[in-house]
Amino acid sequence: MSKLKTSKFGLGLAAGAMALGLSTAGVADGHGDSFNGIGAKITDKAVEPWDISVFYDGTNLPEGSGSVEAGQQPYDAKCAMCHGAFGEGAEGYPKMMGDPMPQFVKSLKQGLDGVGNRAVNNAWGHAPTLYDMIHRHMPFYAPGTMPVDESYAVTCYVLNLAGIVPMDFTCSKETLPDVDMPSTDYYVTDTRPDVKNERCMSDCYDAEPKVVGAAVTGVSQ
Ligand code: HEC
Repeated sequence: MSKLKTSKFGLGLAAGAMALGLSTAGVADGHGDSFNGIGAKITDKAVEPWDISVFYDGTNLPEGSGSVEAGQQPYDAKCAMCHGAFGEGAEGYPKMMGDPMPQFVKSLKQGLDGVGNRAVNNAWGHAPTLYDMIHRHMPFYAPGTMPVDESYAVTCYVLNLAGIVPMDFTCSKETLPDVDMPSTDYYVTDTRPDVKNERCMSDCYDAEPKVVGAAVTGVSQ
């Protein structure tokens, strides 16, 4: 199973990107650790806003909370125009509520349109990843603008629209990992080990290169 967690992987990417962005500032200020004379060491505080990845088991869910009730107003204002007031989808945007699980699975087995029916009630395996997606990615026109409590509330409202949590439910880092999602059993953990190969930088290919032609058969001309 992969050992990657946000705090390492996510921070590494963010830190790299930020260090590039801050390189001139570092040189101008003349302080901080530098790499080859350019850039400045990123501070934890600067990285913090980027460290928002939440894992399926709830790892990295932030402090805060939001109820189904508190989610209605922001959902109506920021989400309903695209996803429908009842999660039915609007203007060609995805619905929150698709076919119920048995019907969804039956359609997939018959090779029918699984994608068009995919929604929160049948295709999301874990509630923390739903929070993650909404907090980082929605509303579509202004991703990343919702405060934590509002994202919890809207997530809760969507879960309620999808018939997964009751009206009096409150979402938080304590409750979301235990929400029973209808399709959890359809998700598997990738147990393959991490592999670490040495990168080859020269003389990596010792055979003669050969071009393999594509054989076209069965075509009437
Ligand atoms: C301007 C239109 C628009 C608005 C407004 C919008 N979304 Fe979305 N939403 C999309 C699009 C497009 C997708 C699918 C594409 C993607 O995932 O990037 C999507 C996907 C989703 C999904 C995943 C659906 C699935 O099952 O795959 C969820 C959940 C979601 N949005 C929640 C929200 C919430 C909550 C809000 C309000 C805070 C919101 N959206 C506002 C356009 C919108």
